[in-house]
Amino acid sequence: MSAVLALDDPRLNLRPMAEADLGDILQIELAAYAFPWNRNIFKGCLRDNYCCRVLELDGEIAAYAIMTLGPDEAHLLNLCVDPGRQSMGLGDHLLKFMLDYAGARQADATFLEVRASNSGARSFYERRGFVEVGLRTGYYPARFGREDAIIMAREMV
Ligand SMILES: CC(C)(COP(=O)(O)OP(=O)(O)OC[C@H]1O[C@@H](n2cnc3c(N)ncnc32)[C@H](O)[C@@H]1OP(=O)(O)O)[C@@H](O)C(=O)NCCC(=O)NCCS
Repeated sequence: MSAVLALDDPRLNLRPMAEADLGDILQIELAAYAFPWNRNIFKGCLRDNYCCRVLELDGEIAAYAIMTLGPDEAHLLNLCVDPGRQSMGLGDHLLKFMLDYAGARQADATFLEVRASNSGARSFYERRGFVEVGLRTGYYPARFGREDAIIMAREMV
């Protein structure tokens, strides 16, 4: 198993996402998800000034996250770590940044949706204080038909 990297490890660099990053991001997106986002979805998030961040490891994009902020709540739309760099603490660092960002902007809670079958991501979020608060039936496309989304939320204390 890979070593977990500390947040202040000099090999790590967290910065805003730019359109020039989308080639690298789409490669990770394709590798990580059976139903990946396309370039236009990412471009729309950048255009609409969502909170879009990349986490670089040794100068290469290893993870990214996108969040919207409403008046009282944040919505984490995507958080993804390159499959070859998972279990190194990168997801955790990025999630912590996004939650701190939302909290600093007076969000009372952060929401997200996750595929019911994505048990790894559900455990990941549960370990960091998210709880299941709802279900969207048939929310996602699936190989055979549709799949439910679990809505998870974390109150900002
Ligand atoms: C879910 C994901 C973001 C986790 O990122 P990661 O960098 O591998 O996770 P970390 O190394 O930061 O792990 C953080 C914690 O989550 C736990 N965790 C991570 N992946 C897990 C898994 N698949 N199953 C169970 N626990 C998991 C770790 O054990 C760790 O817990 P601990 O510190 O209490 O021991 C990553 O696996 C991923 O990008 N998956 C594909 C995309 C995806 O499904 N995104 C979520 C969509 S909503």
